[in-house]
Amino acid sequence: MKRIAAEKALEYVEDGMIVGLGTGSTVEYFLPKLGEKVKEGLNIVGIPTSHRTKTIATRCGIPLSTLTEHPEIDVTIDGADEVDPDLNLIKGAGGALTREKIVAFSSKREIIIVDETKLVQKLGSFSPLPVEVIPFGWYPTKLCIEREFGCRAELRREEENPYTSDNMNYILDCEFNGIEDAEKLEKELKSIPGVVETGLFIDMVDTVIVGTREGIKLLEK
Ligand code: 5RP
Repeated sequence: MKRIAAEKALEYVEDGMIVGLGTGSTVEYFLPKLGEKVKEGLNIVGIPTSHRTKTIATRCGIPLSTLTEHPEIDVTIDGADEVDPDLNLIKGAGGALTREKIVAFSSKREIIIVDETKLVQKLGSFSPLPVEVIPFGWYPTKLCIEREFGCRAELRREEENPYTSDNMNYILDCEFNGIEDAEKLEKELKSIPGVVETGLFIDMVDTVIVGTREGIKLLEK
């Protein structure tokens, strides 16, 4: 289901475009297909959202650049952890939420590729909300989030150590059991000193390509 969604996304990439490249296993089906098109003569430049995507895209022969060279992106193809009926998202299980959000914000068109298990009625129903925080004072930041929002905020770990993002920050995975007002939560979380970014993507998405058992389903804003 992830693979067919990723293949469909190729149709949105045109010659001459600057293309934002998301992060995650669904995007990793997309990158080799895009690489094949480049080898056949498609002229595009990719802007990766993570070190991992940069490495894979390079291996696939996709020419890459930066937001400094290309501050405006034509289309971005990225994955998501949850998609609600208004096409708002939770992202960041792969840890790239901050770069993904900057790239999405710089994109004329944001296209999300998911399998059908990612569709939810309410964000935060199944996935924790990742919140990127600076390492300094991460513990009082965690306590503040837990106190203010009544959630559990778990420091993401990699074996024994705290997981660090490409920005050298920590991630708190916040369990909400359903988020009532995602827009309000986003604003309130961002007002806490130490919070860098949240995995809530509100009103940023144009199209969601859903791979289902029956084939492709398109959700448009
Ligand atoms: C990474 C992300 C990913 O896009 C999200 O976690 C979906 O991943 P996958 O395609 O592996 O299910 O937000 O930060």
